[in-house]
Amino acid sequence: MRNRRAALATIAGAVSLALTLSACGQDSGGSSESGGTIGIALPTQASERWVTEGKSVVQDLKAKGYQAKLVYGEDKPATQVSQIDNLIKQGVDALIIAAIDNKSLNDVLQQAADAGIPVISYDRLILGTKNVDYYVSFDNEQVGRLQARYIIDKLGLEDGKGPFNIELFAGSPDDNNTKYFFDGALTLLQPYLDSKQLIVRSGQTELSEVTTLRWDGPTAQKRMSAILAESYGSKTVDAVLSPYDGISLGILSALKADGYGSGSKPLPVITGQDAELASVKSIIAGEQSQTIYKDVRQLAEVAADMADNILNDKTPRLNSRRAYNNGVKPVPAYLLQPTSVDKSNYDLVLVASGYYTAAELK
Ligand code: GAL
Repeated sequence: MRNRRAALATIAGAVSLALTLSACGQDSGGSSESGGTIGIALPTQASERWVTEGKSVVQDLKAKGYQAKLVYGEDKPATQVSQIDNLIKQGVDALIIAAIDNKSLNDVLQQAADAGIPVISYDRLILGTKNVDYYVSFDNEQVGRLQARYIIDKLGLEDGKGPFNIELFAGSPDDNNTKYFFDGALTLLQPYLDSKQLIVRSGQTELSEVTTLRWDGPTAQKRMSAILAESYGSKTVDAVLSPYDGISLGILSALKADGYGSGSKPLPVITGQDAELASVKSIIAGEQSQTIYKDVRQLAEVAADMADNILNDKTPRLNSRRAYNNGVKPVPAYLLQPTSVDKSNYDLVLVASGYYTAAELK
């Protein structure tokens, strides 16, 4: 590590350092007796989860004696590329990256490799490059399965109830997780679509038809409004598969604007993911039905441990039976387990674990 830092000193001049700090915005410096500096590039501060885990990763790294430089690309792939480029020029010892666009990082990761900087793909698998060393995430297919299971149980599909109307939403097409969530959910929902116990009135069932660029709530809201106007008439929608809380809230806005949520037109079963505060409050208020809780504090801890191990020439802890193929190579992985949360268990899962205080949920 020290050697790599020395080698990098030539490209990490004072000028580029100053430029980088102002471009990156946040410099979360650690103790002066640092074991090195880790660059952390996360997608956006617009979603709570990334803010929470940005703080967690920085804290965990500091506790291990590292400095951390945390940057957010605000959902702009080109910004993230230049932020990572700046981190490399500053001479970071390792990179922890949650990609905005999983295929846009190939060139900048080649620079990282040339500088001997190891890369951890955080939450989202980076595709199309050999220059990614490890992958740490949740079991993303299980996320989709839990969302589908919730819909199946709430509608009573296993008891033969139906037919019901459902609409399908997926995440950003440039995020590799999108496919895992959708495939996981469809594995369980497909038999009911085939038997017509579930009907998609919009006809939009292919992943390419149901994605939501950058996981954007207003984009999902527009799509839901259009579907209600074009495909529903006097019919009502009974369930919506939503992959992420921000999208769920957008869908809810469209539904409410169409009169759902009042006596004669109850809100459909609507899933989500990330247990973001606004969505947990919505669940308590009886609007969004469910979310997936992923303890991102644990994800942060595993990533910090991995970085520490790599930089000390130890093999990081891995727990996934399969390495994840990123199109170029199998990337060894550590996967955490997600938990389904609704009105019946949010107290136990979210408050008892200290993820939220009871006061925050008021
Ligand atoms: C995914 C992530 C989800 C959600 C989404 C939008 O990559 O796995 O938990 O956060 O991005 O940010």
